[in-house]
Amino acid sequence: MDGRTPKIVVLISGNGSNLQAINDAICSESFEAEIAVVISNKSNILGLDKAAKANIPTAVIEHKDYPEREIFDANLMKEIDKHQPDLIVLAGFMRILTSDFVRRYEGRIINIHPSLLPKYPGLNTHQRAIDAGDAFHGVTVHFVTAELDSGPNIIQAKVKTFENDTVDSLVKRIQEQEHIIYPIAVKWFIEGRLQMSGNSALLDKEALPETGLVLEAAEVLH
Ligand code: GRF
Repeated sequence: MDGRTPKIVVLISGNGSNLQAINDAICSESFEAEIAVVISNKSNILGLDKAAKANIPTAVIEHKDYPEREIFDANLMKEIDKHQPDLIVLAGFMRILTSDFVRRYEGRIINIHPSLLPKYPGLNTHQRAIDAGDAFHGVTVHFVTAELDSGPNIIQAKVKTFENDTVDSLVKRIQEQEHIIYPIAVKWFIEGRLQMSGNSALLDKEALPETGLVLEAAEVLH
């Protein structure tokens, strides 16, 4: 990216474990990038403490201060644009974004969603997988488009389910996989290997399957 250090903006609403995994990958020199700022829509969350400990600048734009979604998003865009990021990473950011917002960053905004998309967009994915008796559950990194949880898939990790699984046990096994696949997707993007083209994600100029790349190792690791 023009010989300068690529910039990432990370948006969070909670614990920031994916933020941590991505920052750990950068710190271990898996790829060269800088997290320019971590933006949260809530104060007093663990993710902000993690960012501060890692010396990453933070900003809080509380959604509850903005009754209108458009105005919240406009403020969010203003903060993001100060940093001119190459990539925007949604890491547990629990706000639905307006289409204006998504259009502005299309092709350089990615999200992680705890299901094997297109299965189970939206909330409560772990409970839904348990209720349906699914043999596998998982997590997907995808490009963000205007429709919720439905942009082109980049990478998925499949996790086997067990009869005695609870939401907590599934969350735990799936988060282990999140921390593997999200840094991989970010690395691909930052290295210029990953693009969005229409309804597909391209890796090294070739369209990935609709599932995204499925990390088979995750099945073995559970
Ligand atoms: C993850 O489970 C992710 O799949 C979902 O939100 C959660 C964020 O966790 N989108 P953390 O804040 O990164 O720990």
